[in-house]
Amino acid sequence: MSGARFAEVEANANIALAKYWGKRDASANVPAVPSLSITLAGLRTRTRVALDPALERDTFDLGGTAASADALARTTQMLDRVREASGSPMRARVTSTNDFPTASGLASSASGFAALALAACSAYGLAWTTEQISDLARQSSASSARSLFGGFVELGSELAADGTLAAKQVAPPKHLDVRVLVCVTSEEKKDVASTSGMLTTAKKSPYYAAWLAHAPNLFRELRGALLEQNLEKLGELTEASALAMHASAIAAGVVYFTGPTLAAMRAVRELRAGGTGAWATMDAGPHVKVLCAASNAPHVSSVVKQVPGVLRVIETSPGEGARVVSRGGP
Ligand code: DP6
Repeated sequence: MSGARFAEVEANANIALAKYWGKRDASANVPAVPSLSITLAGLRTRTRVALDPALERDTFDLGGTAASADALARTTQMLDRVREASGSPMRARVTSTNDFPTASGLASSASGFAALALAACSAYGLAWTTEQISDLARQSSASSARSLFGGFVELGSELAADGTLAAKQVAPPKHLDVRVLVCVTSEEKKDVASTSGMLTTAKKSPYYAAWLAHAPNLFRELRGALLEQNLEKLGELTEASALAMHASAIAAGVVYFTGPTLAAMRAVRELRAGGTGAWATMDAGPHVKVLCAASNAPHVSSVVKQVPGVLRVIETSPGEGARVVSRGGP
């Protein structure tokens, strides 16, 4: 290929209702359990990949500053796969911004790698399907495979016969009129990244085997509740999945909860006791995401905003998958 090209992409984060936690194959990054998420309008990454023949190595600017050596290495690893497939050895300038705190457990790796995968394929001129791009993203960060698609999205836990594993849409964004209220409890970088948190859980938790046995059942039931549009059941299973995942992690000493996490979880339980459907889910960070019907969002939001330690609440709703916003060159 000749001449510099660029592509600019937007991708939304996603929040897993049925959690992925643990790897079947760490080197190929294959999840140990299936997961199901909502792609969320309201938590967005914008990434530009520009090929530059003058560069000797890739560069990665995240939110206006040079990304860490580790983030750059993960970026180059994905770009190397794209370079190999496209036949172009050219290095790239990657710039990315999040409209939410980076690496704070707010799923920035999900939207980040989804955006990078699509932008890189587009800039290097690969005419890949969304499934192929999802498989590429999954190899860098499994949750990001789901952000290529909009609405409600699943990711399995087995490679297909051809050695790939892509996410797929279960239902479009309008399938269920829900909101996810993201209760931000810290603006800081999280202490244990999800990859190492799940590896420690697998190594040390006496409950990891129980999680592996239980998670596929939760996933199946949750998928059924979603297809039936049964929000009550979906909510209960969402909270059950998060609690089971964290119970297995906590038993290995991997604790993401802080005081405000527990206080927000309690506020959600009290909302339910008072007759308002609201369910909590937590990822590899201290934030609490609350699932509720759109019609209940104003009330739920006003309650969780008052929880001591909840700094702010971001209201999100089911959104679109990753998309190219501009492309061309040089
Ligand atoms: C708790 O996708 O960040 O958010 O594949 O190692 O990059 P790697 O892990 P990552 O893990 C996400 C874990 C989770 C649950 C989920 O999103 O399913």
